Amino acid sequence: MELLKNKIIEEGLVLSDQVLKVDSFLNHQVDPRLMREIGRTFASLFSESGITKIVTIESSGIAPAVMTGLDLDVPVIFARKRKSLTLQDDLYTEKVYSFTKKEESEVSVSRKLLSQGDRVLLIDDFLANGEAALAMARIVEQAGATVAGIGIVIEKAFQNGSGKLREHGYRVESLARIASLESGSVVFAD
Ligand code: G4P
Ligand code: NA
Ligand code: NA
Repeated sequence: MELLKNKIIEEGLVLSDQVLKVDSFLNHQVDPRLMREIGRTFASLFSESGITKIVTIESSGIAPAVMTGLDLDVPVIFARKRKSLTLQDDLYTEKVYSFTKKEESEVSVSRKLLSQGDRVLLIDDFLANGEAALAMARIVEQAGATVAGIGIVIEKAFQNGSGKLREHGYRVESLARIASLESGSVVFAD
């Protein structure tokens, strides 16, 4: 997606060989016009997939997920991050290990919001090692629903997330794929 790649070139800050900061349009401030284009693009990529719901994780997945839900005309669920509390049996809960943050957390979705037979599109802002997406997928599968696709705004293709997700048989569509952040510059994969 050219508009997104241009935005990354113009406003992205390479913090290290591993991390790209995009606080001006995705992770802190949100660019609504860009999000609308992102939503339209995901909706068109998955228009034939019979999507009935979108699942993302708070907080930065919400903006692109909502714009996609608007175009596909389906509800958008954001999994909530929570500290390990006592077991709550009205929730589907999965652990997520973040290699970036070196910490484990949990994400939860109310059992009321997902049904057997739902065809779910997972959306996230970044794909690094794929742990967040896999946790969302496990939640969907706990509900007896189907992961019909995964839409990623920015994929760091030099990490192994998309490979892991495809090994599980999931269709992954990334709107910008970054091959390298070495020497302080962004190199796209295609
Ligand atoms: P993974 O799920 O693919 O394995 O990724 P990882 O654990 O490494 O990601 C942990 C958090 O860091 C996620 O945000 C993810 O979006 C973010 N992240 C990973 N790599 C980058 C990067 O290069 N740049 C930026 N800006 N973020 C990155 P989060 O903690 O869930 O936060 P948020 O959704 O509230 O923003
Ligand atoms: Na994030
Ligand atoms: Na995220």
